[in-house]
Amino acid sequence: MNILVIGSGGREHALAWKLAQSPRAERIFCAPGNPGTASVSKAENVALDVKDFEAIAQFCAQQDIQLVAVGPEDPLCAGIADALKAHGLRVFGPAKAAARIEGSKEFAKDFMQRCSIPTAAYASFTEVGAAEDYIRKQGAPIVVKADGLAAGKGVTVALDVDAAIGAVHEAMLDKAFGDAGGTVVIEEFMAGEEASILAFCDGTTFRVMASSQDHKAVFDGDKGPNTGGMGAYSPAPVVTPELQERIDREILAPFVQGMRDAGSPYVGIIYAGLMITETGPRVVEFNCRFGDPETQVVLPRLQGDLVEIMEACIDGTLDQVELAFDAGACVAVVMASEGYPGGYPKGRAITGIEAAEANDGIAVFHAGTALTDGQLVTSGGRVLAVTASGGALPDTIRRAYEAVAEVHFEGAHYRTDIGQKALKRL
Ligand code: AMP
Ligand code: GLY
Repeated sequence: MNILVIGSGGREHALAWKLAQSPRAERIFCAPGNPGTASVSKAENVALDVKDFEAIAQFCAQQDIQLVAVGPEDPLCAGIADALKAHGLRVFGPAKAAARIEGSKEFAKDFMQRCSIPTAAYASFTEVGAAEDYIRKQGAPIVVKADGLAAGKGVTVALDVDAAIGAVHEAMLDKAFGDAGGTVVIEEFMAGEEASILAFCDGTTFRVMASSQDHKAVFDGDKGPNTGGMGAYSPAPVVTPELQERIDREILAPFVQGMRDAGSPYVGIIYAGLMITETGPRVVEFNCRFGDPETQVVLPRLQGDLVEIMEACIDGTLDQVELAFDAGACVAVVMASEGYPGGYPKGRAITGIEAAEANDGIAVFHAGTALTDGQLVTSGGRVLAVTASGGALPDTIRRAYEAVAEVHFEGAHYRTDIGQKALKRL
């Protein structure tokens, strides 16, 4: 069959790479894709605007696309699944109403409260004064979030009251996140270690993927501002089998049932960002899509055919599917542009990817890359996810960093401690 992957990041490169391994996949189109997706066997890029659903539907008809796999949250929250389904297309990804679980923090928090899913206590505000009063009453540490989509940047973990009030002003008065900050959600601070759990859903049944852990802060030791994610590993030993059982029972099962009860059965991947606290797993956020860079470490370990799993989600037959994962670990180190997550230069030549990939079990997933006159150059903040799979974690980490050492671009920076939290637990 022919498949269309929507998106252009490292996650989509990993999706195209895994989908291409399916004997069912004939041609894979990536819209708009990146030089990495273009290099995947069977795959090519197509210059479609991911928000132009009519043009996408037309392309799907022309190319006989039988599966559309949507990567990013923006088109999902804007209703790409609904729009394409109305054209009779088969879409892996939630409908607009269900994607609100990520698109609106207020919706997500109300939903979790209604379904008794453990999460931080919260209140939402549309007026600055009321938000300030609440912060003064609650005290710090406290967390301030812009309600809408803010590309991962709308969250402030405030260590004192002044910082929290500053964050409210930034969102509501300075409009730092545009309309996304018209409403702010103020949350209880949760202490613990984070983990990411991704699960396939067909509206009724869920199937959990192997656990993983992201590294959101830009510098080693979780220092510096938050980024889209500087690296990941899977599995995450903080998620013990007992804890996974609680996550299934206390979070994923009520999630799936709650979405059904709300009249928006959830089809696609649900990403639960968790805080593993002293009292158990609690939800930091739900995302309506695969994580980035978590996808780059979970998909290489997934056994079986991703096309068939996605189809089972669309067809409501996920109860007939069991997921299995390779025992070996997987580690991805993100190489970022100079200055990221602040402003950064573009157009710097990238070399050494072939040398890195010449080593066993190494895949370099592209995120912010472009081709200029045949030369691969940087074009984004997060440039590459250098990924090692197989083996025991200490060895996998070593191989990932050996591969990173092969790749060069001016000003490249990366964390040198990806996976260290897991090593401490092992
Ligand atoms: P989010 O965009 O909601 O995932 O938040 C970004 C990051 O902020 C999370 O990955 C956490 O590290 C941190 N964070 C968000 N909410 C909380 C909370 N209630 N307690 C502690 N940390 C939080
Ligand atoms: N890795 C964080 C995210 O995908 O939202």
